[in-house]
Amino acid sequence: MAPQAEKLVIVLGASGRQGGSTARALLSTKEFKVRAISRAITNPKLAELESLGAELVQASFDEPESLRAAFSGAYAIFANTNFNSTRSVGIERQQGVNIADAAAEVQSLRHFVWSGALDVERMSDGKYKNVVHMKAKAEVAKYIKDQLLQLGSKMTEVFVPPYFENWTLMPGLYGPVKGDNSLKLSLPVVGETFWPSVPIQDIGKIVRTVLENPEKTRGQGVSASIEMLGFKDMLEQWGEVHEVAVEYEKMNPEEFESRNIASFAKPFGGEETAAVFVRAASEQMQFMEDITMGRLSFQIVLQIRDIIGDDDVSLSWKQFATRAYNNQRM
Ligand SMILES: NC(=O)c1ccc[n+]([C@@H]2O[C@H](COP(=O)([O-])OP(=O)(O)OC[C@H]3O[C@@H](n4cnc5c(N)ncnc54)[C@H](OP(=O)(O)O)[C@@H]3O)[C@@H](O)[C@H]2O)c1
Repeated sequence: MAPQAEKLVIVLGASGRQGGSTARALLSTKEFKVRAISRAITNPKLAELESLGAELVQASFDEPESLRAAFSGAYAIFANTNFNSTRSVGIERQQGVNIADAAAEVQSLRHFVWSGALDVERMSDGKYKNVVHMKAKAEVAKYIKDQLLQLGSKMTEVFVPPYFENWTLMPGLYGPVKGDNSLKLSLPVVGETFWPSVPIQDIGKIVRTVLENPEKTRGQGVSASIEMLGFKDMLEQWGEVHEVAVEYEKMNPEEFESRNIASFAKPFGGEETAAVFVRAASEQMQFMEDITMGRLSFQIVLQIRDIIGDDDVSLSWKQFATRAYNNQRM
């Protein structure tokens, strides 16, 4: 067996939230070396990773040759594509295929960690076709399982749920809106709807746990949910911390979508793009409502909560609420 320090992990999207969290978590152990990948290694976000010991290498998901070169000698790869940068399912799918094809050629590869998403359209028998940010990730995992059998046997599909941070980054769409000393959450689903979620800073620890437990995680899907609360419970915990009254309202989906298209048109660069993101969020929530109410079902065999140590989970939902309260008094 190779000495542990020789476990080279390629981290794609290292200048971003998931990749950055992953690179930092891996660099905090002696077991892994990190090669951080970016289209522009002069990106200042990478300087911290370099100072922690990461090797910086330039590559693009759109350039298969660059990926093949970047993957050389890898023990493992963490791959996360970014729907938001192109807003195209087709481009994201092709980027994922490029990554997978290049990974399949790496002789030294033992573990491939794919930041995945549930196949909502298939699981809902075609009821929810518009959850665009999840589609390509599910299609690429299927491509790997169907076409790249060896890579499939080395793959862990980590189902990364919505970030805790969405609650504060996109109030109205995912989180509550402030009233007069009150918080109101209006979503297109019943308040009991479970919303699996994860703080960004823990994604890296989750990926590290997956890599530290290959015998349990290789060839499996793993839910990376750290909290699995219903929306109403999330809101009530938030209200407790902020000492404000809370109100949950179920809106009809059309009303929810038109209200948010209007308010997100500016940040999303126009009504058309906002409509795509808002419809995706709305359908994702309705899918989860169907699961919660038993109208649909799915099973992810492995829950990260079953293998990750409590010390590696840094933030509960309530702690996140407290931190947000300290940063920004409501
Ligand atoms: N928001 C949520 O709640 C949530 C939850 C689960 C999953 N997701 C998914 O997570 C993804 C976004 O991940 P994130 O939050 O980590 O995004 P992020 O912080 O915006 O980072 C995106 C990363 O992707 C890299 N990248 C983009 N296009 C690239 C290309 N063509 N070649 C090489 N690198 C490329 C960027 O690297 P450089 O710019 O340095 O090249 C950057 O590091 C989205 O697909 C989203 O659907 C989001």
